[in-house]
Amino acid sequence: MRAIQLSLILLTCGLISLLLACTEATPRAPTDAEVLQAEALRPAKPQLAAKYERSCLGCHGIRGAAPLTGFAPAWVPRLTKGPEVLLAHARDGFNGMPAKGLCSDCTDDDLRDLIQFMSLSQ
Ligand code: HEC
Repeated sequence: MRAIQLSLILLTCGLISLLLACTEATPRAPTDAEVLQAEALRPAKPQLAAKYERSCLGCHGIRGAAPLTGFAPAWVPRLTKGPEVLLAHARDGFNGMPAKGLCSDCTDDDLRDLIQFMSLSQ
């Protein structure tokens, strides 16, 4: 009997921590207004804005798998990886994120600026 109670307690703890881990990993979904706002955002520098529009906007400016531009809940957990890891993932690709975000003429500096622009809440 004791053993059953103990395993039930352990199972409950396991389920709770699994649930907590999941809520931490999945940020809340953006609202329609937040998606509309993200669609309209552009980097201030025209040259960078052109690269952003041609390469990143299609995935990061819409509701989808990519972290939404300017939407803090999607970026805060990623920023903890540090700027060098984010740059490496943007340059080399990461899961659904294609290498250089399909921006073949983007330099590392461009990618750094783009990441900064996309990850800051506007
Ligand atoms: C074809 C769609 C697509 C394009 C184009 C795209 N991304 Fe992404 N990006 C994604 C997806 C999907 C993710 C989420 C990957 C994951 O976390 O599994 C992502 C994630 C990222 C991340 C976070 C990586 C991490 O380690 O958490 C950065 C930074 C990023 N993209 C930068 C860019 C930049 C800069 C551009 C434009 C030059 C760009 N992306 C273009 C789809 C895209």
